[in-house]
Amino acid sequence: MGVALLFRDFRQRSRSAAAVLICLNLRNLEIMLRVLLLAVVLLFIAWLVLRLIRTHRFSLQDRAVLITGGSRGLGLVLARQICAAGGQVALLARDAAELARAKTDLSRRSGTVLTVQCDLLDAGQVQPAIREIIDRFGKIDVLINNAGIIEVGPLDHMTREDFERAMRLHFWAPFELISQIVPEMRTWGGGRIVNISSIGGKLAVPHLAPYSASKFALTGLSDAFRAELARDNIHVTTVAPGMMRTGSHVNAKFKGKHDSEFAWFGASAGAPLISMNADRAARKILAACRRGQPSLTLTFAARAAILGNALFPNLTGYMMKVVNRLLPGAGDEGGNQLRAGSQLRRLNPTWLTRLADRATIRNNEERPEVSR
Ligand SMILES: NC(=O)c1ccc[n+]([C@@H]2O[C@H](COP(=O)([O-])OP(=O)(O)OC[C@H]3O[C@@H](n4cnc5c(N)ncnc54)[C@H](OP(=O)(O)O)[C@@H]3O)[C@@H](O)[C@H]2O)c1
Repeated sequence: MGVALLFRDFRQRSRSAAAVLICLNLRNLEIMLRVLLLAVVLLFIAWLVLRLIRTHRFSLQDRAVLITGGSRGLGLVLARQICAAGGQVALLARDAAELARAKTDLSRRSGTVLTVQCDLLDAGQVQPAIREIIDRFGKIDVLINNAGIIEVGPLDHMTREDFERAMRLHFWAPFELISQIVPEMRTWGGGRIVNISSIGGKLAVPHLAPYSASKFALTGLSDAFRAELARDNIHVTTVAPGMMRTGSHVNAKFKGKHDSEFAWFGASAGAPLISMNADRAARKILAACRRGQPSLTLTFAARAAILGNALFPNLTGYMMKVVNRLLPGAGDEGGNQLRAGSQLRRLNPTWLTRLADRATIRNNEERPEVSR
């Protein structure tokens, strides 16, 4: 009997001791969680403040900025924002009429603009173009390698020339510009270089083989130069945008079943959930440039795709095979011809490409002879 009582007493005491211990542990856990939350909030605030300080240390006021492909699309939007911030821009592209329209656009916004007609596919034209800009502005504080051509179509129609052209514009032209400008930047005490690559330069996309391969090369070049140039106070930013509504779908070139290729590409170029407004993209790019941020990926969809590919490369590989099956097949012999989107028949209903089409008009993408 006495043993039973003792045993019951012992059980009651140990239960209340356990309850006390649980309470203490819960209390400790609660305190730990609060401390952790506070630490996260403080770290986030510190990160935000640091970002702001780094952005404002490099102002665009009176900076000379060279933008390749600055005559339309993203390049022109970047130029508008740089002019608004008090900077000077040198726009480099091939089409003289388009450059002239861009200059008028920027002059109306009281920007200081120099336009330089130059074909970056011809390496011999790069050096005189750089000289002209330095003669006019005295220096180049920021180089933005933005010029690009997009060729869409199945591999069956892509030739060695397509790959070579893409490599010359997306890889060799930035290489040439960086190689010639960096020695000068060193004498001026530093600068910024922004290389506009693409989601296609991080994740190979079907029907964009020359584009993807050459943008992968640009991503590698940009990331490799970044580490070595930092000691000269030259900060390189690699930008990987997903779809942006620059309006350039009409200037993209198509092969294969032209109209069908244009249809899927045009629809994705203006899709609200996967594409980003070009003004917003430009703001983010310039902020990253000012703070010397190493890398910038634009659009949530592009970030998710890059992360998915890094974590599950095989799954992405299988998915791309499925995507390829959904895209138009190869065309007949006429499919070997490169044709601009503006020359093609529109299979999409107008509401599907409305946002992209508005950007076409806004961003100097529309050739005067093209009626819509
Ligand atoms: N739009 C998007 O959704 C998207 C997505 C990811 C990445 N990107 C990249 O962002 C950049 C800008 O795209 P965007 O949509 O603004 O393109 P865009 O409107 O077609 O502009 C391309 C610019 O590059 C110039 N260019 C083309 N070939 C050239 C050459 N051989 N020499 C000199 N300049 C040349 C063009 O002028 P000329 O034709 O007169 O020479 C034009 O000014 C490109 O590098 C593109 O790959 C765009």
